[in-house]
Amino acid sequence: MCGIVGILGRGPVAEQLVDSLRRLEYRGYDSAGIATLEGACLARRRAEGKLRNLAGRLQAEPLIGQVGIGHTRWATHGRPTENNAHPHATERVAVVHNGIIENFRELREKLKKNGAVFETETDTEAVLHLVDGYLAAGIDPVEAVRATLSQLRGAFALGFIFAADDDILICARNGPPLAIGYGDGEMYLGSDAIALGPLTDTISYLEDGDWAVLTHDGATVYDHHNAVVQREVVKQSASASLVDKANYRHFMAKEIHEQPEVVGHTLARYVDMATERVSLPVDLPFDFREIKRVSIIACGTANYAGYIGKYWLERLGRLAVEIDIASEFRYREAPLGKGDLAIFISQSGETADTLAALRYAKQHGLHTLSIVNVTTSTIARESETMLQTLAGPEIGVASTKAFTCQLMVLATLAIAAGKVRGELSEEDEARLVHDLIEVPRLMSEALATEPQIDRLAREIAKSRDVLYLGRGTSYPLALEGALKLKEISYIHAEGYAAGELKHGPIALIDENMPVVVIAPYDRVFEKTVSNMQEVAARGGNIILMTDAKGAAEAAVEPLETIIMPDMAATFAALIYAVPVQLLAYHTAVVMGTDVDQPRNLAKSVTVE
Ligand code: G6P
Repeated sequence: MCGIVGILGRGPVAEQLVDSLRRLEYRGYDSAGIATLEGACLARRRAEGKLRNLAGRLQAEPLIGQVGIGHTRWATHGRPTENNAHPHATERVAVVHNGIIENFRELREKLKKNGAVFETETDTEAVLHLVDGYLAAGIDPVEAVRATLSQLRGAFALGFIFAADDDILICARNGPPLAIGYGDGEMYLGSDAIALGPLTDTISYLEDGDWAVLTHDGATVYDHHNAVVQREVVKQSASASLVDKANYRHFMAKEIHEQPEVVGHTLARYVDMATERVSLPVDLPFDFREIKRVSIIACGTANYAGYIGKYWLERLGRLAVEIDIASEFRYREAPLGKGDLAIFISQSGETADTLAALRYAKQHGLHTLSIVNVTTSTIARESETMLQTLAGPEIGVASTKAFTCQLMVLATLAIAAGKVRGELSEEDEARLVHDLIEVPRLMSEALATEPQIDRLAREIAKSRDVLYLGRGTSYPLALEGALKLKEISYIHAEGYAAGELKHGPIALIDENMPVVVIAPYDRVFEKTVSNMQEVAARGGNIILMTDAKGAAEAAVEPLETIIMPDMAATFAALIYAVPVQLLAYHTAVVMGTDVDQPRNLAKSVTVE
């Protein structure tokens, strides 16, 4: 992954580079660095760990150059040490890179034979020495980069500055996104428009295969055939100020609490509140009656949202739905039906596996519909239909509000499908939309369980393993609960379909392993009660998330019961997501982990 920035400025750029990198930390925070042109010399400052370490380094040893590039890293090749931190540089050129150079071994061997001395464990250094070799042979920067790009395989967004020229910054895109920003006699480069927010609102996006030469006065963009192309320049108001935590201790807490509001905004975009009808903001370029099969494809939390969506589309739309992990979908070579529908779900809209799956589905003649939070993202731009979640910027690495907004869009889509396919009557539609309209209020009620969950978290924090169980849509929610807990508290957790308990995980149950059971009082509740009894009989400690009726009928003595508001069962996952998220959050707080930026993770994963 990683985030990259670049500035051709008219004053010192170090501070602006760090400010832009701060907005890209969601892409990785293993190390950070900048390089600037100090006279005719390239100077670097790099530091292991979070950006604040780099900022500290710069305070002690400032840089004053007016041309610079910067990088925040999520380590792929090479440990997250200072030595492996970008920018990488020789006397002649400095480079920052997001992505993976797949043929770096082969390039490295060839370059070594020609005398290049490698100092890092990174794949990026092969790019550096390729360019440097051309420069050393007297070739100019533009030609040196052009020749280098033709030898690279893999995914990359690259930025270069050169010791011999203070009016040039070259960048290239093959895979990960890259935005060019236009200023007043200044030019900028960033992994996204958010990075450039404080600098400019005039942006253009490179397309895949493009590379560009920036000078103080503008940019010349080339496509992958090296032909000069024009890319649209748009005005984009990525807010200049960084989103702040308001009065919350962490972004994650703020984002959990924002859910009633943003889920409500999303709902308002997809239904007509007055008539209680679904009203999608775009016309779908396909007819749900002609779709034989739907494939839902995503990664991580977005995948679990899709899993819940599968239950809804099957039940309400009577559609055959498959759920796939993006990294598996494209290599599995499953037969795909031309004209069928593939739905891609992504908060960032940049996840490399999801994007690759989208392109694969397009190649195979499927209709492609994406549910994304960042509407300027590559997935949003490349899919046939884009449905936006109105979660607003999500900063915490662990996804919360984007997840519930994705659920809201999927719920309305399932109702729309059921309606078109004649599976739902107007009354059914009105009843279901009415249930969705209740969701924001019910979410606020669910948030009121926070003090109880905070106390419970102190118990959970003592555990080595936690099991999450559920049936129906509570099963994917159990998977999400386990993911949430492990990613931010580092406690091992597993989600299981409650009915599968007896086929394996029951062997793990003893008094030391809490079992979180997600069980709204619905048509499978009684079955789940039987599974709870199996746990209780083996001395397991049950934490039951249910409603008042479920609590009354549970017939076991849970360690703790978290009572959710009464609601129609179909969309219960939207409400039960709240205590699931709060439990992971408070456990992580008790454990003292870095909640918003957990170790080894990143918010946007732009490598396969
Ligand atoms: C990373 C993030 C997760 C996210 C997943 C998919 O793993 O840490 O929170 O669910 O990527 O990201 P996307 O942007 O495609 O939803």
